[in-house]
Amino acid sequence: AATAWNTLTGEQPIVIAHRGASGLYPEHTIMAYKTAIEQGADFIEPDLVMTSDGVLIARHDLYLSATTDIADHPEFADRKVKRQTPLGEHEDWWADDFTFAEIQTLKARQQFDGRPMQYNDTLDIVTFDEIMDLVLAEAEKGNIVGLHVEAKWPSHYTSIGKGLADPILDAMKAKGLKEAGIPVYIQCFEPPFLAEIAEKSDLPLIQNMVGAPYAAMMGLSYDLETMPTDGVGADVSYVLDEDGQPTDFVDRAHKAGLLVHVYTVRDDRPDAPFTDSHAELKALFDAGVDGIWADFPATAVEVRGQV
Ligand code: G3P
Ligand code: CA
Repeated sequence: AATAWNTLTGEQPIVIAHRGASGLYPEHTIMAYKTAIEQGADFIEPDLVMTSDGVLIARHDLYLSATTDIADHPEFADRKVKRQTPLGEHEDWWADDFTFAEIQTLKARQQFDGRPMQYNDTLDIVTFDEIMDLVLAEAEKGNIVGLHVEAKWPSHYTSIGKGLADPILDAMKAKGLKEAGIPVYIQCFEPPFLAEIAEKSDLPLIQNMVGAPYAAMMGLSYDLETMPTDGVGADVSYVLDEDGQPTDFVDRAHKAGLLVHVYTVRDDRPDAPFTDSHAELKALFDAGVDGIWADFPATAVEVRGQV
């Protein structure tokens, strides 16, 4: 491996297991997280939402149809509700309408790339507490694995008189993550949430940025020079152009003192123009990124070892 990296700190970039080893096993399950740890991921990534009784659980979406077997539970058949979302109206079962006891009766089930995943319908929905217990147990064994925690749509919880910032911070404090030396990043797409965390903690913060084409469509722009966070979570399209060549994004971010974590690299569907994730990962490491979210962390660790 290279002795010098083009990262902000000069340190080796981190591999973040995106929702666990989510290319292999249903996302946000203990099996997906444990596999990521075995494969050498530096961080595992829980996306967090909250139940009606205030339990933080790891789910990518506020609704439950896409990643659980809830459609097969007749007792919940009349609990589907239409909601307005930033992406339009959507009818579904929403995690914050269900108690944790109810959610515990569900199993993880999803499609990956159009196919049902192995171990569907056998794995439980995982709490943030259980994920923290996993990295704490790992630390006891001498293996430090960090948490790259994403708060999902925190403005929704604020709009119903709740919030995500205090529950997340309180939960981490109660578990003693800091005392155990567990590295933590807090990431979010919504700036006000990160501002609240900044007021209430000294945790490093990552401002997630929607992909360049979507940002243009939604009229969003991000000013790296005035970004108040420690880094950005950037879609690959910011860092590599259509020909797979590096843009000036990493340089500009580093000049502004920002870390660049990039999402998401997948083995089975690398971003065009790449047909092989090894080449995509190498291009990103060469561009000087500070971290990569990977669905297949083993591949990212392997390529990092060859750079
Ligand atoms: O958190 C950044 C990365 O995970 C991309 O977002 O949650 O939609 O997969 P997500
Ligand atoms: Ca995420």
